[in-house]
Parts: sequence; structure tokens; C-alpha cells
Amino acid sequence: MKPIQVGLLGIGTVGSGVFNVLQRNQEEIRRRAGRGIEITMVADLDVDRARAAVGDGIEVVNDARAIIANPDIDIVIELIGGYGIARALVLEAIAAGKHVVTANKALLAVHGTEIFAAASAKGVMVAFEAAVAGGIPIIKALREGLTANRIQWIAGIINGTTNFILSEMRSKGLDFDVVLKEAQRLGYAEADPTFDIEGVDAAHKVTLMSAIAFGVPVQFDKAYVEGITKLSAADIKYAEQLGYRIKLLGITKRVDKGVELRVHPSLVPSKRLIANVEGAMNAVVVQGDAVGTTLYYGKGAGSEPTASAVIADLVDIARLHTADPEHRVPHLAFQAHTLTDAMGTLPVLPMSEVVTSYYLRLSVADQAGVLAKVTGLLAEAGVSIDAVLQREADEVGGEGATQTDLIILTHDTREGTMDAVIAQMQALPTVLAPITRIRKEELN
Ligand code: HSE
Repeated sequence: MKPIQVGLLGIGTVGSGVFNVLQRNQEEIRRRAGRGIEITMVADLDVDRARAAVGDGIEVVNDARAIIANPDIDIVIELIGGYGIARALVLEAIAAGKHVVTANKALLAVHGTEIFAAASAKGVMVAFEAAVAGGIPIIKALREGLTANRIQWIAGIINGTTNFILSEMRSKGLDFDVVLKEAQRLGYAEADPTFDIEGVDAAHKVTLMSAIAFGVPVQFDKAYVEGITKLSAADIKYAEQLGYRIKLLGITKRVDKGVELRVHPSLVPSKRLIANVEGAMNAVVVQGDAVGTTLYYGKGAGSEPTASAVIADLVDIARLHTADPEHRVPHLAFQAHTLTDAMGTLPVLPMSEVVTSYYLRLSVADQAGVLAKVTGLLAEAGVSIDAVLQREADEVGGEGATQTDLIILTHDTREGTMDAVIAQMQALPTVLAPITRIRKEELN
């Protein structure tokens, strides 16, 4: 059979990786796919860079639309990124009857409903293994490997930049700003790291996993997103003294009233495997009713790890593109017409309805009755205390001190309840600074 022909839009780090891995492993990939997979056209605004990356013998253009217009191209790989021109080109490629492979989590998390509907109408595939957790085949696992399960929850370290920063803060006792600068110097963090450190990148990824896990539409606009910029070295240290590590988790959970969809720093028991995922690595824990807990670990970014995922999608398409579209794996794992029903019965819950436990750090006046007042407010609201720690971190409190840190771990409670109690505690004259609140996930 003649090789399937691929056009590549954007040949930066990942695009070069795709090109190199396809070349290096072409014989094994051909044996797996049942036919060759060949990149025959590359589009990049920087034609010289593209030419240097792919050598001679491949058509290099600066106009992506030349690829979309080429009737010989079967699959378009979109590696441009962002929501702007990438959205237009993906929709144009679909309209031209091309299958699309993309690593663009932002595009799919925000415009996925439109893109998947267009692809279904046209009978083409949109594959996005590389969009979530880079080289880890988590989309394949959720969409196919775990298809027997009613998935209960997913919790993932799905942003390598922030995990690197948190690992450095913990191991070196440094504050966020210092580590961010170091991460930028080493190339772990981008010059503009906003999407990573504010949790947006992780929210894009967990939005996609949530849709696949629960059969709901992609709803990034309903995700709760909180990054790591306000975390202090002191909180990481207190958490460690209590047996926890702080990780930026993307969490999606099915509960009675709907679906939780949230990204925020979380205390995780140090003994959990995921708490020990350090540096820029990614990991995802999935809890299914039949399989129990499964854990997926690996590189969430980088040239060849991400290329590994892109090429897996190319192989899937090479195998399935002649199949009747109704017999292919649905884009979001569930048959498209069932997603609307799911939206009615499984709404994404507002953060005030989320039930979780909490770490609270209060900077308080070190005088009689302060602890009793604070715990009294928690008791009145029906919030149960799991642990209390005072004066264990260095340099805070002690005999003769006027101020001390009071750390409280709670049991599960509704976020709305916790918001109200925090407001009451904050109003006490003996609470001397804004209260720090970090959510806690036992993941058991
Ligand atoms: N910037 C992401 C990370 C990789 O740090 O994990 C691409 O999503």
C-alpha cells in the first residue's frame, strides 16, 4: 500500500522530533501501521530553519494553506500552538477532508466542541495524544484501555515546569520567585511562564481528560484554576512536617451532583507514589471502579517524548482511516450524541460545591485564647480538625514571641463552608495576616 502522506504545520522542537523519530524508526512504524507514514510537506514561517531540520527531498513552504490545499496530503499535523491561526488552520484542514493530529491543548480545551463537531460532520479524525502529559499515553489509556470502567477521579501532575519549581522549592528551601528565575535560566520555564505557573496549561489538560473520562463536553471556561505563585517555602516545610508534599494537581472527579474540574496546589501524603514525582516529570493517577487505581508516569514535554505521542496518533490514523467513521474510537471516547445528555446530568460544579480537606496557615498573636477562638469558629461551622501544628517551623514563635504560625489540617468540608469560616477567622483581631489556604487530597 502506498505510504500515507503527512503535512507538518510548524517545525520547532516537537516538529523536529516527529521528523527524526519517523525517520529513525520508519521500518518498525511501517510494520505496525501496515503502511509507510511519510512527511512530504512542511510549512513554517522560518523556511530556512525548516529546511535545515528536514534536509532536501521534502517540500518546505511558508504558507500552511499550501499543505491544506494539496490533495495528496492525508493527515495534517498542527504544531503551531495557540488559539488564533491554529484554530483557523485546523478547521480549514478538516473542511478539506484531512485528518488532524495536534499537540495543542489550549485549542482543544477552548474550541474542542466546535472542532470535534466539524470533524465528525466531515468524517475525519482529530487526534491529540500529545496534548496531555506529552509522551505518556494517557489519552489512549482513558479512551480505550480503561473503557470498561466508570471512572471516579483523575489527579495529575500535568505541568512539568511547575513540578520542577515545586521540587526545587522543597529540596532547597527557596521561595517561588528565586526558583522561577533559576528555572528560566536553565530553560525549564519559558520567558513568559504565565500559562504554566498560573495553572492554565494544567487546566487545559485536565479539561480534556475530564471530557474523555466522564463523557462531558470540553468546558475549560468552567474549570477552577489556581497556580503556584503564592506558595511560600514555609508552607512547603510545614506540609512536610505533617507528612505531605505540595503538588500542582489537575483534578477531575465524578460526584453525586456533577463533575469537579479544578487545578490548584494540593497537599498530597508523602507516601503516595505521585507525591514522589519530582523535577519536570508528569504523572497521572486514574481511579476506575473495575480496575482500581492506575498510575501513568513519564516525560510530559520535550522533543522526542512529545513526538512519540504525535506518531502514535499517526499510526492510529493510518490503521483506521479507511474504517467507517462510526466504527472508529470516538474523539472523546463516548459517542458524540451522548455527550449532551451527560452535560445535563453531570454539570461542572462551581468551586463552592467542591468537597475537600484543607491546610490553613494563620499568622496569629501568641496569646491565651487565640487557638480556642479559631477552633471554635471551625467547630461552629461543623468543620472537623484533623491536625494542629504550632511553632515547629524555624524562626517563628517560641518563648517571648508575640506572633506565631498556627497550622490546621481539616477533614473534608464544602469549599463554600470553608470560605465563610476563613472570612470569620480573618476578621479576628488576633489574626495578623492574610490566611493561607491550600487544599489537601488524600488520593486514597
Ligand atoms: N509547558 C508544559 C509543561 C509543557 O511545563 O509541562 C507543554 O504543555
